Amino acid sequence: MPLSFVSKKEMTSQIRTVFTAQCALCHGAQGQGQKSGKHYVFPPLWGADSYNWGAGMHRLPLAAGFIKANMPLGQGGSLSDQQAWDVAAFINSQPRPQDPRFMGSVEETRKKYHDDDDFYGHTLNGAVLGAPTQLTQGTPQIPKASQAPR
Ligand code: HEC
Repeated sequence: MPLSFVSKKEMTSQIRTVFTAQCALCHGAQGQGQKSGKHYVFPPLWGADSYNWGAGMHRLPLAAGFIKANMPLGQGGSLSDQQAWDVAAFINSQPRPQDPRFMGSVEETRKKYHDDDDFYGHTLNGAVLGAPTQLTQGTPQIPKASQAPR
């Protein structure tokens, strides 16, 4: 069954709460994942080693659907639709590696490849998501209700 749609505007309140309570245990408080030796046992959800802005998972409907069905691991289906959208919005408004189709400008790339179901090219807390920057792991950007990505 498809998830009921929640607009980006509605994904503003409490969006970090689900992550901290239900996901950070495995994926890390900074979304950094967990390694055993060189290999990730729990994948990072944002930052340098996470899925990039071209991967399907950066799209909100796909992420929310995947999360609702599969996460927390072993407890698929336990989140409400709203919680799945909220946590997908939180994760997918964090920095991640560039879209491999990058055209040299975030704005051009957004126009060509990104539409209403993701946050590429949106401004959050004064920073443009997808802007070429040195990516390090960590430090989630916490959207305030008034500054939620649009
Ligand atoms: C018990 C550990 C555990 C918990 C808790 C957990 N995850 Fe995961 N998660 C995993 C593992 C392991 C994978 C990789 C295997 C897979 O894709 O099924 C994964 C994969 C993912 C992916 C795909 C990452 C990628 O690179 O494609 C996303 C997104 C994700 N989890 C989100 C969440 C969210 C959101 C929560 C909280 C609601 C959560 N996870 C809770 C263990 C966990």
